Amino acid sequence: MMTLTINGRDHQVDAEPDTPLLYVLRDDIKLNAAKYGCGLGQCGACTVMVDGDAVFSCITPILLLKDRKITTLEGLGTQDAPAPIQRAFIEEQAAQCGYCTPGMMMRAQALLQRNAAPTDQQIRAELAPHLCRCGTHMRILRAVHRAADMMRRADAGAEGAKL
Ligand code: FES
Ligand code: FES
Repeated sequence: MMTLTINGRDHQVDAEPDTPLLYVLRDDIKLNAAKYGCGLGQCGACTVMVDGDAVFSCITPILLLKDRKITTLEGLGTQDAPAPIQRAFIEEQAAQCGYCTPGMMMRAQALLQRNAAPTDQQIRAELAPHLCRCGTHMRILRAVHRAADMMRRADAGAEGAKL
């Protein structure tokens, strides 16, 4: 038995230590946003954040995750109150089949948390490990810029409110 902290909640998990995080998320905890694509760390569909960094959950064994903060797409926002990255993807219609989308959003979120104003080139480089068969790349690029704008405006508003 091991405790995993996911989206701010502790979960008791009864799984072998070498079980990939993706299997635990989907099969045991029923958080299905992270997708199984290749299972080999080659497509990005399973991406979540661990301590703010994007990781491929399909190749991350749970034994590495003790006392780490795991965030999945479900932890960013809800349907009624989506996070900026989720709103931006919706507003830019940046999904077609949607299979790659949760992973793209999680890596974009990790980027925006450390770089509030990434350039086109930085976004492209960051999302390079992610495959999208539907060819929505240009919309995804616009969505990440849009989310960055929203987050900067929210930060500026919060700073203004403190003055
Ligand atoms: S399913 Fe994890 S990288 Fe493809
Ligand atoms: S929207 Fe279909 S794989 Fe990206």
